[in-house]
Amino acid sequence: MRIGMLTGGGDCPGLNAVIRGVVRKGVEQYGHTIVGYRHGWRGVVEGESVDLSVDAVRGLLPRGGTVLGTSRTNPYASEDGPGRVLATLARDNVDALIVIGGEDTLGVASKLGAEGVKVVGVPKTIDNDLSGTDFTFGFHTAVQIATDAIDRLHTTAESHDRVMVIEVMGRHAGWIATYSGMAGGADIILVPEEPFDIDAICNRLKRRHERGANFSIVVAAEGATPKEGTMALQTGEIDAFGHVRLGGIGQRLADEIEQRTGYEARMTALGHVLRGGTPSAYDRIIATRFGVEAIDAAHAHDFGKMVALHGTDVVRIPIEEAVAQLKTVDARLFETAAVFFG
Ligand code: F6P
Repeated sequence: MRIGMLTGGGDCPGLNAVIRGVVRKGVEQYGHTIVGYRHGWRGVVEGESVDLSVDAVRGLLPRGGTVLGTSRTNPYASEDGPGRVLATLARDNVDALIVIGGEDTLGVASKLGAEGVKVVGVPKTIDNDLSGTDFTFGFHTAVQIATDAIDRLHTTAESHDRVMVIEVMGRHAGWIATYSGMAGGADIILVPEEPFDIDAICNRLKRRHERGANFSIVVAAEGATPKEGTMALQTGEIDAFGHVRLGGIGQRLADEIEQRTGYEARMTALGHVLRGGTPSAYDRIIATRFGVEAIDAAHAHDFGKMVALHGTDVVRIPIEEAVAQLKTVDARLFETAAVFFG
């Protein structure tokens, strides 16, 4: 078989490990040819491909980013996009496509699957907000980077009697904020799932400081939002999937906290640092298992499926199940995190 592969959406530690898994098993054990498309769906629309040999994937396991490149191009955003995708796949004699991406990229795969394209999905996002899988690769690495940063910010917060606001990625779901906040001992965690009341936050911080603390750590997901009418927010540019560019809540929070409590506050936005660099050992392993399972699915002609982690098992589920709705932070987990607030 000739099998195409692409990585779409925001990059994520572990993408290269998936690519390596697909190629090593696909070429060496099954004798398939693997064609990589450059820059996500853009490469398929524009017909930009590269042959992926075993030699081409040497040394990829620990490497961050994606050697295929990525983009947020949505073929369905232009009238001729889906037709161009089909034309490229026909030109390249590609029998099936392995699509590595998050909700948007896999959403396109699901639509193309309904039009007859043979697709296998691999769940990717540091945000961990895809349904149908317990974890996506990249999330664990992002949590570790954020936790290391929170540990470092603790000591400088303590030295200067400051409130530190740490903004982490998490557009629709606060998984990174919750996990890193719990691991780093945050005094407040703000997530998109639970709109916050700035007065209540300041009161908690005041209570904590009145009880003897001289500093506080607030971890906020970039998608955290104030309860309606309580604090103004900025809006930014919009991408091909209709998402507003986020960022800015951390600074708004630090300003409000300083103004309302009188405690000096500083903000650190971890942003794309969380997506960069080498994957953790755990992410290398899930990514490798996902890559191998994806090529197994393609080889077995088990299309329309996404590989997923259920407990400690890697399984295959219908792609539609994964993209039907976002996986938000579990309420019980957040309740546990909240035990340590204030
Ligand atoms: O991939 C999802 C994500 O990590 C979001 O949390 C974040 O809002 C977004 O990527 C930002 O990505 P970019 O700046 O690359 O468009």
